[in-house]
Amino acid sequence: MFEFSLMGQRLGGPSGISELMDDLGHALAQGGAEVKMLGGGQPAHIPAMDDRWASRFREMLENREEFDKAVGNYDPPRGNPAFIAALAAMLRRECGWDVGPENIAITAGGQTAFFFLFHLLGGEMPDGTRKKILLPLVPEYIGYANQSVRDDLFHAHLPRIEFTGEHEFKYRVDFDTLEVGDDIAAICVSRPTNPTGNVLTDEEIARLADLAKAHNIPLIIDNAYGAPFPNIIFTNATPVWHENMILTLSLSKIGLPGTRTGIVVAHPQVAAAIANMSAIVGLANPNVGQAMVRPMLESGEILQLSNEVVRPFYIEKSRYAQQCVHETFGDRFDYYIHRSEGALFLWLWFPDLPISSKELYQRLKKRGVLIISGHYFFFGLDDSVDWPHRHQCLRMTFTMSSDVVAEGIRVIGEEVARAHAEAGKRETP
Ligand SMILES: Cc1ncc(COP(=O)(O)O)c(C=O)c1O
Repeated sequence: MFEFSLMGQRLGGPSGISELMDDLGHALAQGGAEVKMLGGGQPAHIPAMDDRWASRFREMLENREEFDKAVGNYDPPRGNPAFIAALAAMLRRECGWDVGPENIAITAGGQTAFFFLFHLLGGEMPDGTRKKILLPLVPEYIGYANQSVRDDLFHAHLPRIEFTGEHEFKYRVDFDTLEVGDDIAAICVSRPTNPTGNVLTDEEIARLADLAKAHNIPLIIDNAYGAPFPNIIFTNATPVWHENMILTLSLSKIGLPGTRTGIVVAHPQVAAAIANMSAIVGLANPNVGQAMVRPMLESGEILQLSNEVVRPFYIEKSRYAQQCVHETFGDRFDYYIHRSEGALFLWLWFPDLPISSKELYQRLKKRGVLIISGHYFFFGLDDSVDWPHRHQCLRMTFTMSSDVVAEGIRVIGEEVARAHAEAGKRETP
């Protein structure tokens, strides 16, 4: 009926992520309880965490002033001053970072923080040149892919594959071929990485930080799953921040995705710009998550819950899913799991997969098992890059109940074996 602008068409039109979420949502609605949902990024409802959120909410209701302020006030666009002060103090205390309130800005979820950051730094520059965000290692978080208001904003770099076990591998940044050109505005990584559960090593982070510094650009680290909270990280990785880095955190994966609370820790110039963007786009940010969590930052309870409840819960979920994969797949076909170092997912690689991962996704969907085809996570690459690996992987979430995870993995094994059997028949005259 109406004509949409170019930006309107980009943001208001279909995108990989919206089609995917729609597909998952509809399949779930139609399939009811029969669907094995291993596709989404929904954190688990951990009973002890849900109980704590409920009791904290009751505390707020009992202290009416706290509740009235949380739901009845606009906060400043930068975020709630008491929450920001408590967070800065906690980061100074726990991580030893030189962080003050001037380094912090709140956003409506980490996703919004990325939309702001990518457009703050990338795109058309005052001198007319265009700058991009360098993803030094893909596969990378699909939620970044369609965030550009104009043409493609990303320049992605393929990883090196390191075999770390009989059925295990790990992506490493390929520094031998990584180049930072004049057209790069920032380097960005998620750590732990969605979709793979990779945790870039301290050495990789140090090298990326050095590269960024040498080019006078920031290194953005998406810490949605990282330390100090929610600490869904299973290896010994040191959390790092200094003013040449932009670190994002979120209250989602500790169990409060509905409160839409994202956090940017950055140079004061960047934090102030994010606050200004919040004012323009949304006036203020959601208050409730900040109000709930502030006293838990002050007391250190948030760290205790992360370390003693959330982290062990997901370590066990990951261990169980890996055990199911090994027991179910056996030696029927070749497979590898990306080393599970954090986040909520297993990333499976089938090197000889005779069909594409997209076709495998379709076949699994027909059987009531929802995963995400790996090819979606390889964005920002030149069209000329032809790497079969892109079509041989899938992401499965391991946060569901043991029954769902085990049954889903059983069906994945069956469908991969079936694809191999079909290909074998085709090849035998
Ligand atoms: C790597 C990563 N970054 C950012 C986000 C955004 O999360 P939120 O907007 O809920 O904070 C997600 C959500 O799944 C994620 O996986």
